[in-house]
Amino acid sequence: MQTFSRIADLRQALQQKRAQGEKIAFVPTMGNLHEGHIALMQAAHTHAPTVVASVFVNRLQFGPGEDFDQYPRTLQEDQAKLAAAGVHLLFAPDERELYPEPQGYFVDPPELQHLLEGEFRPGHFRGVATVVLKLFNAVQPNVALFGKKDYQQLMLIRAMTRQLLLPIEIIGMDTVRAEDGLALSSRNSYLSPAERAEAPRLYRTLNELRAAILRDGTGAIEALTAAAQENLAQHGWKTDYLAVRQQSDLHPPSPDGAQKLVIVAASRLGSTRLIDNLEI
Ligand code: PAF
Repeated sequence: MQTFSRIADLRQALQQKRAQGEKIAFVPTMGNLHEGHIALMQAAHTHAPTVVASVFVNRLQFGPGEDFDQYPRTLQEDQAKLAAAGVHLLFAPDERELYPEPQGYFVDPPELQHLLEGEFRPGHFRGVATVVLKLFNAVQPNVALFGKKDYQQLMLIRAMTRQLLLPIEIIGMDTVRAEDGLALSSRNSYLSPAERAEAPRLYRTLNELRAAILRDGTGAIEALTAAAQENLAQHGWKTDYLAVRQQSDLHPPSPDGAQKLVIVAASRLGSTRLIDNLEI
């Protein structure tokens, strides 16, 4: 695997691949890679002969007081994992390379950016969309893969790609979970042993809520969601949101009940904020 920190060098290497007619699959990450990321790399191989990953902790998507400084940076270990996963090229720029001048142009996503995650992390999705577009421009992939754990992020990137006519196919991959159900996340490393033991309750709660909605019908969503949130609170969770939304636009379910639904949640255990979701 070759690692590039400069856009010009990466572009030159990719130019050669394109000249040989090779398609490019791309997996952007913020590093501190886990099995979920590796599953994306493996899936990428089924979409194109050349697989490119990026590792960049993007300051623009972190709010004031969030964990930008604390976010684990483990480039050497990440390189070993990516090489073992057969990734061909790694793009690992520093901030000066990706933001050589203060960023004045942004991708400002529509209303979707202000719902759910956006309500609790203002500006987060503007930062995500802007860096993803920049990374897409640097790599110019044919296909890009993202995890469904970041459900809203995936929706937003799909919409950006479609509306800005980017010639990139966006693939969403299922969340990879630990044996006890906890969604894999770089932020799980912040959990104390006691919090780690408690953490699977979030996914269990989503499953119980889904089963209850299927049993009692969509008319009971409000009461069932409140009960699920109360159950988390009793076990020490501080929930930002736990909501049943339409898969199509993340709005509350329409009264006709015709739309497919998803349960989305963000909740804190101690100082660690975990997110998860479950389609119904
Ligand atoms: O999902 C992530 O790790 C990040 O939001 C992404 C897509 C790499 C952009 O920084």
